Amino acid sequence: MAQLFTRDTQAIFWNNNKTAIQRMLDYDYTIKRTTPSVAAIVAPTSSNKFDKFFYGPDEVMIPLFKTTAEAKAAQPQADVLLNFASFRTAYDVTMEALNLGGFSSIMITAEGIPERLARGMNEFARSKNVTVIGPATVGGIVPGAFKIANVGGTIENIVQSKLHRAGSCGLVTRSGGLFNELSNIISINADGIAEGVAIGGDRFVGSVFIDNLLRMEANPEVKYMLLLGEVGGTEEYKVIEAIKAGKLTKPIIAWCIGTIAKYYDSGVQFGHAGASANDDRETAESKNNAMREAGIHVPGSFNDLPEIISAVYHELHAQGTIKDIKEPPLNLVPKSRRSKEFICTISDDRGEEAHYCGYPISSVATPDTGFTVGDVMSILWFKKRYPRWAVDFLETVLKTVADHGPAVSGAHNAKVTARAGKDVISSLIAGLLTIGPRFGGAIDGAAKYFKYADDHKLTPKEFLAYMKKEGTPIPGIGHRIKSLKNPDLRVEGLKKFAKEHFPSTPLLDYALTVEQLTTSKKETLILNVDGTIGILMVDMWRSLSYKDEEIDVFIDAGALNAFFILGRSIGFIGHILDEKRLAMPMYRHPMDDILYDVQKAEEL
Ligand code: ACO
Ligand code: LMR
Repeated sequence: MAQLFTRDTQAIFWNNNKTAIQRMLDYDYTIKRTTPSVAAIVAPTSSNKFDKFFYGPDEVMIPLFKTTAEAKAAQPQADVLLNFASFRTAYDVTMEALNLGGFSSIMITAEGIPERLARGMNEFARSKNVTVIGPATVGGIVPGAFKIANVGGTIENIVQSKLHRAGSCGLVTRSGGLFNELSNIISINADGIAEGVAIGGDRFVGSVFIDNLLRMEANPEVKYMLLLGEVGGTEEYKVIEAIKAGKLTKPIIAWCIGTIAKYYDSGVQFGHAGASANDDRETAESKNNAMREAGIHVPGSFNDLPEIISAVYHELHAQGTIKDIKEPPLNLVPKSRRSKEFICTISDDRGEEAHYCGYPISSVATPDTGFTVGDVMSILWFKKRYPRWAVDFLETVLKTVADHGPAVSGAHNAKVTARAGKDVISSLIAGLLTIGPRFGGAIDGAAKYFKYADDHKLTPKEFLAYMKKEGTPIPGIGHRIKSLKNPDLRVEGLKKFAKEHFPSTPLLDYALTVEQLTTSKKETLILNVDGTIGILMVDMWRSLSYKDEEIDVFIDAGALNAFFILGRSIGFIGHILDEKRLAMPMYRHPMDDILYDVQKAEEL
């Protein structure tokens, strides 16, 4: 891989570090990336499903997952892991990702991973051909393509340091702070950087100088390289060997910081864990001298670096190796932005015509479009266009439950309300408010409990015992007037439809074995219309390859009762209009139909 990242690179960000993620997205917007560079966030302790971030003036939702495995399964194209776990967790997170596979690079920010573990982790990554940046790093950048987290700081600073588009220098440092400083120096004295990595300050880091320089040697965008090492370690000597072996041919500028160490009597441990010389070869001075001897451009001091950078750049420019850069147009991140209060993922009424999940209304409304009301339901309720058999089932349910005569709880209430002089909305709501666990609203409960019983392989007997312990009647079982002898033909119709059109109906088959047992106790304890709908919805979703977790979300949201609510609204409105048409007077319940059992109030 000649280039570490491209404009299509996407990352999984481990830990919801909002500032760092926002900085990545501001960068993406500025350089006009088409996809956000963060595809998913792993937030183990959050129960949220997504977080909102600004993308320019707008906001985008980035999905949250509890584990790396879930995030990777949902966003398999994201091949960079930005591991922002603490030093206690970072090792495990990295090892898990390496075992999962599918990552080309992993950046580890934590400082202080035990060295023994870090060595094993780095070796394991190398054996898997995964580039590890860090531990103890700010990360890296391919300007104009992908920027890790906080590299370069604020967006203003990034543009000022020419990190918004590729320059010619390949930059490798140990320190993150000095990485930013050098990006700035290079932008002032040359045309910016083509690729840059801060390899990290720990003694044992994943990718070392030579790994990065060899990649940059192969990257045609990189015309010369700058290495900023420091006292401690011998990695710089590998660079010298590579030059001698002809593996590194592009001009290299280098400097090792820490030359001041010689003025101290004993060894000095600088800020980084790796920044301490264990023998003479590891001192900054020895390494600078050796690099100078190998033909690397080594300044007399850090202060002379800008001059050398300018000289090397101008020479390559004069030779024609480096061409002038045409500044790309940039997006400007607005100074003030307001987070949106509401989110809508199903329809959009901006523009000339409103859309249902991307379908303009005119493309679904009329019969010639081939869309029916079931299609529109599947799109607006479940954000997917279902196959014909499933759409037909949704519509069959609506038509089946549209009405069941004036005597049932809801219709009765709607009629009484209409007769009290109330309008259609009030009367409809009065009817709808009766829908609940006993009447029409047992669909979700039936789906939940039968699914539970089937998932746990409970025999019908065990299921009944379980429900007894729960202390509730089995949702979806029982009817006031329907029984084995007086079967509910709606149920027969739904079962027939499913048997003819569903790919399979395992939950229905299970429910029928439960019904055999309940009706053997009492013949009204049939699988009722609510139960049949709930159970068949689960069979439908399973046939449509929904995952169990997704089905559970529908059930918990009350999506199944919604079929009864919508369908029965048709009937309720019919009854209300009937009352209005008949101009019926206010209803009063016959007193002789009420058992009055009022006692004298007790004295307190
Ligand atoms: N599970 C277990 N036992 C039940 C169930 C059930 N779902 N339903 C009734 N029983 C038992 C009762 O415990 C009672 O037993 P008992 O005689 O030993 O005391 C007996 O059957 C009669 O109970 P009732 O409540 O009088 O039965 P009723 O016929 O009045 O109730 C109802 C009908 C409300 C539908 C009831 O069966 C029930 O609550 N079912 C679960 C909820 C449900 O599915 N509702 C949707 C119905 S369809 C619709 O509304 C569109
Ligand atoms: C209905 O659909 O309303 C009925 O199943 C309920 C009832 O009491 O008949």
